[in-house]
Amino acid sequence: MALTTVILAAGQGKRMNSDLPKVLQPLGGRSILSHVLATASALGSQSINIVYGHGGDLVRKEFESSTVDWTFQAEQLGTGHALKQALPNISKDHQILILFGDVPLITEGSLKKLLKVAIKGGIALLTAELSNPEGYGRVLRNDTNEIIEIVEEKDATSDQKQIKEINTGLMVVPAEAIHGWIKKLSANNQQGEFYLTDIISIAVAEGVPVLGEIIENAEEIIGINDRVQLAQAERILQRRQAQEVMIQGATLADPGRFDLRGSLKVGRDVFIDIGAVFLGDVELGNRVCIGPNAIISDSILGDDCIVREHCVIEGVKAGTECKIGPYARLRPGTEFDKQVKVGNFVEVKASTVGVGSKMNHLSYLGDTHIGENTNIGAGTITCNYDGALKHQTVIGNKVFVGSGAMLVAPLEIADGATIGAGSTITKNIPEKTLAVARSPQSIVKGWKRPSKSSR
Ligand code: UD1
Ligand code: CA
Repeated sequence: MALTTVILAAGQGKRMNSDLPKVLQPLGGRSILSHVLATASALGSQSINIVYGHGGDLVRKEFESSTVDWTFQAEQLGTGHALKQALPNISKDHQILILFGDVPLITEGSLKKLLKVAIKGGIALLTAELSNPEGYGRVLRNDTNEIIEIVEEKDATSDQKQIKEINTGLMVVPAEAIHGWIKKLSANNQQGEFYLTDIISIAVAEGVPVLGEIIENAEEIIGINDRVQLAQAERILQRRQAQEVMIQGATLADPGRFDLRGSLKVGRDVFIDIGAVFLGDVELGNRVCIGPNAIISDSILGDDCIVREHCVIEGVKAGTECKIGPYARLRPGTEFDKQVKVGNFVEVKASTVGVGSKMNHLSYLGDTHIGENTNIGAGTITCNYDGALKHQTVIGNKVFVGSGAMLVAPLEIADGATIGAGSTITKNIPEKTLAVARSPQSIVKGWKRPSKSSR
C-alpha cells in the first residue's frame, strides 16, 4: 500500500524554556526534527508531511531544501487536531505513518517492523515496556490481550498508572477511516486537547483491528520534552555513533567520551583518544591517531597522521604522515602535503605547505605558500594584513627562516634562502642568499647597572 508519513511537530515545547522551537534544538549537531526527517526519508514513503506551528518560519526555513509538504497548525489543540490539519493533503487510499517531531531516535528498522504489522484497514501501534513509564500514555489491553484504549498519564487512574506498557505515539493508520475517527474526538480531558490517542478506543468500538508492536529497544522512543531528556538522547545518539566508528575500524579510548556532530569516516587502525570532538564532515585515513581534546571539523587527514592533544583543526586537508600539535590551530583553507610538521602554539590559515616542511613552535602563517623541506623558526610571523588588505607570502624549497622573523607581505623568498633570526623582512629574497634585517649589536664596556643603594 502507498504510504504517507506525517510528522507532528507543531508543539511549542514549553518545558524547554527556550526561544528556539523544540524541534530545532540540536541533537548531535543538527536539529531534533532533522533526525526524524532523515529516518522518514529512508523509509521510502510517497510523501512526507510536516505539521508545524510554533516558531513556524524558523522551522520551514531550516528545511527549505527538503522536498516535504507543510501543514500549518495555527493553534496547538492536540495531536488529533494536528493530524486533522494534514488530512486534506493525503490520498484516501494511503496508509499514514505518524511520527513525532520530538521522538528522534527511532530507527528505520523498528518502523519497518511496525509497517509489517499494519494490515489494510487496521491500526498498527508501536508500544514500549518501560520500567519507569511516567509521563507517557498507557496502553490498556483486555483479558485476551488485545489493545482497547490509550489513557494519557494526566487522565489515568492510579491503577492505570501502574501499567508499564506505554504509547510511543508512533502508529500506522488507514487514511480513509481516520477522517471519521477524528471527527469523533472530543477535548473533554484533563488537558482540554484533541488527543490522537483516542482514535484507538473509537476504532476498537467499530471492530477495527488494533495491532501492537512492542519495540525491542526502548531507548529509541524517548520523547524529548525538556533539556534533561535532550541530554539523555544526546548520549544515546553518541553511543550509537561511537559504535559505528568502532565497527569501521577505529579504537576509541572511551566511547563514553566521544562526540560526533556531523559525519566521520575512518580508515583501519585509527585511534581516537578521549574528549575529541568531530564537527561537520571529517575523514581520517588509516592509522591516524587523534590525541585527547582535539576539535576537528570539516577536514581530511591522510594515512598515518598524528594529531596530538588540544589541537583545533578546521577546514584542513593534510597528506600522509603529518604531525600536528600539541596545541596547534589550523584554520580553513590550509593544505599540507605529506610529512609536514606543525608544533605547539602554531596557527596556520589559508596556506599551503609542501612535503617535509616544519614549523615547530609559536608561529603565525596566514595566506602563505611554502615549498618543500623548509624550516620555519620559532616565533615566525607572516605580517599578512596591512590594516586594509591581506597579502600573500611565498616561501620556496629548503628555505631556513631564523627564529623571531617578521615576514611583511607581499613577499617572495626564493629556494635555499636563509633569514637571520630576529629579522624584519620587507623585500623579496633571492635564491641561496642570506638576509639579515636587524639593528647591529653594540657593546658598552664597564656598564654599571642602576641599583637602589647607589641613590
Ligand atoms: C504524546 C502521546 C502519549 C505518548 C507520548 C510519546 C497524545 C495525546 N499523547 O504525549 O500518549 O506516550 O506522546 O512521546 O498523543 N503536537 C502538534 N500539535 C499539537 C500537539 C502536539 O504538532 O497540537 C506534536 C508535538 O510537537 C510533538 C508531538 O505532537 O512532536 C507530541 O506532542 P506532545 O505534546 O509532546 O505529547 P506528549 O504529552 O508527549
Ligand atoms: Ca512529547
